[in-house]
Amino acid sequence: MADEKLKLEDLLSGVQRNDEDGRIDYVAIIGGGLMGQGIAQTIASSGLDVLIVEKNDKRVTASQAILKASMEREIARWAMTQSEMKSILSRVKWTTDINDVTDCDLIIEAVDENYELKKKIFKDLDKIANHETIFISNTSTLSLTKIAEVTNRKDKIIGMHFLNPVPKVPLVELIKALDTSDKTVEVVKKFAKKIGKTAVEVYEYPGFVTTRAIVPLLNEAMHILLEGIASAKDIDTAMKLGYNFKTGPLEMADSMGLDEVLAWMETLWSTLGEPRYRPSPILRKLVRERKLGKKTGEGFFKYDADGKIIE
Ligand code: NAI
Repeated sequence: MADEKLKLEDLLSGVQRNDEDGRIDYVAIIGGGLMGQGIAQTIASSGLDVLIVEKNDKRVTASQAILKASMEREIARWAMTQSEMKSILSRVKWTTDINDVTDCDLIIEAVDENYELKKKIFKDLDKIANHETIFISNTSTLSLTKIAEVTNRKDKIIGMHFLNPVPKVPLVELIKALDTSDKTVEVVKKFAKKIGKTAVEVYEYPGFVTTRAIVPLLNEAMHILLEGIASAKDIDTAMKLGYNFKTGPLEMADSMGLDEVLAWMETLWSTLGEPRYRPSPILRKLVRERKLGKKTGEGFFKYDADGKIIE
């Protein structure tokens, strides 16, 4: 009730809610792929409304199908009820028109890991969105400071690195760019808490903590495969049983999307110059063949419609 009153007062006074008290009710997500739909599910299940912006109708249909399928898998595992799924779906809307984000309190960008694309989106959003709106990027390796340069709100640009699968991973990395204000950090920290994530603050640096630490391991597993030391299945079994990993490195790369993994390695290699980030030729080959992992049904392994490895 008190909340309702606050909303009404905000509307009457014309005050921006997220400027006034960091309150966020309606979140836009640009890009409804693997991460975008996972972020949408997480936010909607915390009771907030979500708008996903995709680049065309075909991608909207694909994004809707992925979101529904991922929740149906949860239901089959008794990890979600039909009514929870219905209530999440009732809070998520899709559009192909980026101009629809004007009413959103917060905008999260989750398009492909590509500077030019991300910069174009931030530039467009800067013209469309209310000046007080905070923009978050889910980039894994790119510089937020460089992305922020194309906007007139450098203090309101921040990185929030979700990990896949978003509804299950309780962590986000918060990345403060050169000009990100403390106020923006505070608002986004509160938001992370509200959606059930523990935030760790990291300095802006290629790959932050999680991507930088995992990429060499994935790359090494690919080299081991390429050198014929063991089969893909045995490499993953060795790492799972030997080191108590839930998922082996090759299946993990397949889950992340091999095109994304390649893009991260290219950035880490070119920015840090360390050979350990130089992408294994087998990764390049699979990406060339559009065998991108679970999302295309084949990568290091073949997958059924439920994302399970076909033995
Ligand atoms: P994805 O390829 O599954 O999804 C990207 C989506 O962006 C696609 O659906 C595409 O249609 C959409 N898109 C492209 N241009 C657009 C535009 N102009 N307007 C609206 N939508 C547009 O990629 P994924 O894996 O979801 O990655 C997205 C971002 O999240 C990348 O920056 C990646 O580095 C980051 N990330 C990915 C993780 C992973 O495990 N895959 C983990 C953490 C971060």
